Amino acid sequence: MNTYDPVTFDVLQANVDLLAENERLDLERRRLLELDQLKTEFLARISHDLRTPLNSIIGFSDLITSEVGGRINKKHAEFIAAINRNGHALLAMINELLDLSSLESGHVQLRLDQVPLQVLLEDLQDATVPVLENAGIETRWPQVNSVKDKTVLVDRRRIVQVLVNLVDNARKFTPRGGVVSVEMDRDSHGVHLVVADNGPGIPKSEQDRIFAPYYQRPSGGMATNAHGVGLGLAIVKSIVDRHGGSIELDSGIGKGCRFKVLLPDLSRAEQKTSDPVPAAAPDRRR
Ligand SMILES: Nc1ncnc2c1ncn2[C@@H]1O[C@H](COP(=O)(O)OP(=O)(O)OP(=O)(O)O)[C@@H](O)[C@H]1O
Ligand SMILES: [Mg+2]
Repeated sequence: MNTYDPVTFDVLQANVDLLAENERLDLERRRLLELDQLKTEFLARISHDLRTPLNSIIGFSDLITSEVGGRINKKHAEFIAAINRNGHALLAMINELLDLSSLESGHVQLRLDQVPLQVLLEDLQDATVPVLENAGIETRWPQVNSVKDKTVLVDRRRIVQVLVNLVDNARKFTPRGGVVSVEMDRDSHGVHLVVADNGPGIPKSEQDRIFAPYYQRPSGGMATNAHGVGLGLAIVKSIVDRHGGSIELDSGIGKGCRFKVLLPDLSRAEQKTSDPVPAAAPDRRR
């Protein structure tokens, strides 16, 4: 004989609701994945579409400057140099924009390698020394002992990108004659990378916001010749996060900036678990 049991009915009803909700969430998830895929394809497409004509502008202005097609006068050379400079600036902005977008979408796989600190330092110096010298900045590099025979499991290109961004900011916002220092060391917890300057500094109230995309301080903290779109520190933070690390800023108005990146020892984490950092795949190809 069938008897109506209100408790059983409620449980059945709850199950039906749960199934419907699961189905709705699954549809929503698929829709978001499709949108994400579209965004990635769109970015890849505009990246190609914007970079191709820009490379042509930069390439042809280089050719005109080298007078391959014939002599040019001094005034023309100045105009062409401006076209070339701005072409490079635009290309750098497009690259930054695409870089942040792909880092945030999670499509970038880290290529982890055991990298000597000495190699990170040399890569950083190769990328920054000429510009620092040109800007009249005194640079202090890490002591030999603090980098000698020490390695860290990181994506070499990405961590150099972090350091170059920090040194480039230090250079950009520190007046001529200023000092930029770089420190590197490792202890049992991991690696510490420090980039410090004696420039204008950043007030406490703005220290969180500078890591947000597109945030640039109002003219007080900006050198008049400073260009950029405000993406550098957002990219830095994203790369450091992907390594499971953190970044700290010690600064105040008139006190310079001291950015400290802490990278945990991933090789230890790797021994404990087979998947230490989400989406970080060891890559021995380089
Ligand atoms: N070393 C520094 N000294 C003083 N201010 C700084 C320093 N580093 C960053 N800032 C401030 O933080 C803001 C954000 O820095 P971020 O690197 O993200 O952007 P940007 O350098 O202006 O542009 P981009 O990096 O895209 O070329 C800068 O505009 C500047 O106001
Ligand atoms: Mg920057």
